[in-house]
Amino acid sequence: MIPHRFWDGKSVIVTGGSSGIGRAVAIAVAASGGRVGIVSRHAERQRDTVEAIRAAGGTAAGEIADVAEMDDMARAVSAFERSLGSCDVAIACAGIHRISWPLDPVTATEVIDVNVKGCVHLAAAVLPAMLHRRRGHLCGIASIAGVVGLPGNAVYCASKAAIIAFLEGVRLDAGDSGIQVTTVFPGVVDTPMVTQAERDAGGLVSATEAARIILRSIERGRAEAWFPTRTAIAARAARSLPPLVRDWFLRRQPRLDEADGG
Ligand SMILES: NC(=O)c1ccc[n+]([C@@H]2O[C@H](COP(=O)([O-])OP(=O)(O)OC[C@H]3O[C@@H](n4cnc5c(N)ncnc54)[C@H](OP(=O)(O)O)[C@@H]3O)[C@@H](O)[C@H]2O)c1
Repeated sequence: MIPHRFWDGKSVIVTGGSSGIGRAVAIAVAASGGRVGIVSRHAERQRDTVEAIRAAGGTAAGEIADVAEMDDMARAVSAFERSLGSCDVAIACAGIHRISWPLDPVTATEVIDVNVKGCVHLAAAVLPAMLHRRRGHLCGIASIAGVVGLPGNAVYCASKAAIIAFLEGVRLDAGDSGIQVTTVFPGVVDTPMVTQAERDAGGLVSATEAARIILRSIERGRAEAWFPTRTAIAARAARSLPPLVRDWFLRRQPRLDEADGG
């Protein structure tokens, strides 16, 4: 990747930076000159990503933390402020996917805790300093699944709908404070979160391509990034259908199943 001045020397926190989209984003940011702080729970995967970035000549640090816990997030962000400098860009990528039919309240709470609270906790940890400096960028990885309900995925879709609305609200509140907010709406991206059946069905975006689109959207200060185009158009079109027709259409969509690695 050609180094891009936008990222040069910037301090960038990526939650979920040890796998899939987050890992690809962390590697791409570091390759473009950014200093990357990775938040995730499992030490081995995190160490592997940090070492890969350093081996390629980049700057990276890792903090073991659960994004669902505000204290953990605050501690991780403080550690990165000390080691990498004030956070310029925060990217909420940590997420989990669980099937929610039949509905199990424990699993549902886990999905909401990681996918929704995780994003809110990152924002709460970085925004005060960004507002003080009148500079910063918050980005959240939502999903096209947050625009519609999908069979077997009511809770996952709800968690993504929640952060879509959350990030939109923060963008409105941030106003002319110098803070920018980007919401990312991926379709299916080839990561450990997707099943082999989804891979076999084709039409996936690679994690590297997803990272390229995410970085470009942040650089350009875009409010939203949707990809791939076909899935984005289908989801937006489905949203505008009358409910009975929409239900008929959505029931016929291939079910997003739970992957072993997600
Ligand atoms: N792949 C897709 O098709 C797709 C499509 C649309 C949106 N998305 C969204 O994109 C984001 C990344 O997904 P992905 O496909 O790259 O998944 P992935 O490969 O499974 O990576 C998930 C990352 O989140 C971290 N994580 C999970 N729970 C965490 C917690 N409680 N605290 C801290 N870190 C946690 C994981 O590390 P640890 O397990 O070590 O904590 C890992 O680094 C998610 O928000 C997902 O919902 C994915």
